[in-house]
Amino acid sequence: MSRASEQRTAPVPTPTASTPSAPTPPEHTPHVTGELVATRRVGAYHHLTFVAPGVAELARPGQFVAMAVGGDTSANLLRRCFSIHKVSSIDTVSPGGAVGGTIEVVVAPRGPGTRWLTDLKAHDEVSIVGPLGRGFPLPPDPVPCVLVGGGYGSAPLFWLAAALRERGCHVEMVLGAATVDQLFGVVEARHAADAVTVTTDDGSMGITGWVSDVLPDVIRRSGAKTVYACGPMAMLRSVTDLATAQGAVAQVAVEESMACGIGVCMTCVMPVKGDDGLTRMARSCVEGPVFRGDRIRWEAFENGRCRVPEDAYGAASMSGH
Ligand SMILES: Cc1cc2nc3c(=O)[nH]c(=O)nc-3n(C[C@H](O)[C@H](O)[C@H](O)COP(=O)(O)OP(=O)(O)OC[C@H]3O[C@@H](n4cnc5c(N)ncnc54)[C@H](O)[C@@H]3O)c2cc1C
Ligand code: FES
Repeated sequence: MSRASEQRTAPVPTPTASTPSAPTPPEHTPHVTGELVATRRVGAYHHLTFVAPGVAELARPGQFVAMAVGGDTSANLLRRCFSIHKVSSIDTVSPGGAVGGTIEVVVAPRGPGTRWLTDLKAHDEVSIVGPLGRGFPLPPDPVPCVLVGGGYGSAPLFWLAAALRERGCHVEMVLGAATVDQLFGVVEARHAADAVTVTTDDGSMGITGWVSDVLPDVIRRSGAKTVYACGPMAMLRSVTDLATAQGAVAQVAVEESMACGIGVCMTCVMPVKGDDGLTRMARSCVEGPVFRGDRIRWEAFENGRCRVPEDAYGAASMSGH
């Protein structure tokens, strides 16, 4: 079981009307058999396209899908979650006979689940639940925005960029990764955004350094009012700090370990402040994965673990857990 479930066995207070963002799990989230229709290697990642009837039609940028891995008799009981990179709601007829819209995901092979997915061949089938979670909120007015992606975290941002530009927003992107092969979508970003800045830790592409090294300048130059980000937690924290310091709001898509993905198991809880200033343990799968960065209690995350802050709602009844 994941690090999160080891840590978070204590009961979590029932969300109330003043919970940071009251959960609204979709009543009838599609659970479909997806057929893999295209697979492509992109640097360190695998870009997979599935015909997934009913999923694409409902999805919004920033939402994710949960995929069963390992086949029918697998011991890998937990689904694995992936941001939706793109959707097409135009019906595609797969060679296997499935008809429906397509969803695309970008997978970094790491453990048994992701490796199983990236070993799939065209026409293989996967059980898919989604779209899940809350996506990125779009601004009502055409304001300048900066989109920051770390590694495969840039995958959901292109679709977001298109939605923002449709609303007349000026969109700049900052993409960063450790090395060039862990960057995703640099070429696509040049079409999707009005300006793009690339960073790599080792200087193998773009500016040597982290996205946080260039972000203050990009926010200043663009006059961004909202900064959207997806990537590792440490990156999301510094994006939040830098955006807040410049008077912009950060909307960040977190990647907390998840088990059920539908709000039942509490594996994914993290401390988030509500409108009333009170910290509650929010389920990132249904109340997120997108949160206002300045509402997240970042100091609770340490060494890949998250603790319940002592002042969190209901913490005393958790005996300090
Ligand atoms: C909302 C969300 C969006 C994600 N989007 C993507 C994406 O677009 N591309 C991508 O490659 N990966 C993404 N991930 C991470 C991906 O789900 C994990 O890499 C994957 O679950 C690891 O499974 P595994 O069997 O390969 O590895 P294992 O380490 O064996 O995983 C075992 C369990 O650990 C948990 N876990 C392990 N690593 C992570 C992680 N980094 N984040 C969350 N849970 C983890 C999962 O619950 C999994 O069930 C996302 C995760 C979340 C929660
Ligand atoms: S993953 Fe189960 S409640 Fe969020």
